[in-house]
Amino acid sequence: MNPISIEGQQLALRELREDDAEALHAIYGSEQATEHLSFEPRDREAVAGIVLGGIADANREPRTVYALAVTLEGNAELMGYARLAVEPHRAGQIGFALNPSAWGRSYGTETVRLLLRLGFDVLGLHRIWGARSPKNTASAAVMSRNGMVEEGRIRDHVFTHGAWRDSITHVILEGEWRRSE
Ligand SMILES: CC(C)(COP(=O)(O)OP(=O)(O)OC[C@H]1O[C@@H](n2cnc3c(N)ncnc32)[C@H](O)[C@@H]1OP(=O)(O)O)[C@@H](O)C(=O)NCCC(=O)NCCS
Repeated sequence: MNPISIEGQQLALRELREDDAEALHAIYGSEQATEHLSFEPRDREAVAGIVLGGIADANREPRTVYALAVTLEGNAELMGYARLAVEPHRAGQIGFALNPSAWGRSYGTETVRLLLRLGFDVLGLHRIWGARSPKNTASAAVMSRNGMVEEGRIRDHVFTHGAWRDSITHVILEGEWRRSE
């Protein structure tokens, strides 16, 4: 499905464009934003590759990866990055990261809500999950606030910042989403 365009109260999700690389680098190149992610800060070239990869994914048929820009109402510039990867059995995994200058204003909560709308209402998924670092309390808060309950711990899930790290998974099922709407 392409193009995706989903509007929320303050934010919207849109397809990536080549000129989003600089704004995404402000997130993925930042120590602060990547502290709890599965990789260390990325350079401009790597981030440009992620944007091009996301654009290529958007044009695949069937499409399984939705790498999208999060924008603030009235401003088309990328303020965050939101990703949903479709898996077998109508499942999907989400990931999200916002520019640190925008943190603490409920945008993370709305970003997760928009990803759940994409997964359940647009793509008809049954189960959507996310994995976070055990120390990532902001991520725990935004997923929990959207009804994504903690499901378990994946031990040594990723090797990052020089060490193995567990992940805590959060999940929401289709019926739970419908009841929360
Ligand atoms: C996770 C993230 C998207 C949250 O975005 P946000 O816009 O700040 O989220 P919200 O404002 O909707 O809510 C944040 C919640 O976490 C809390 N929080 C924010 N930063 C925090 C921090 N550094 N430590 C502890 N709690 C924090 C806030 O208090 C708020 O909870 P509350 O409303 O119960 O007080 C943002 O921090 C981010 O982009 N982080 C880097 C990437 C990342 O970790 N992505 C998740 C990968 S699993």
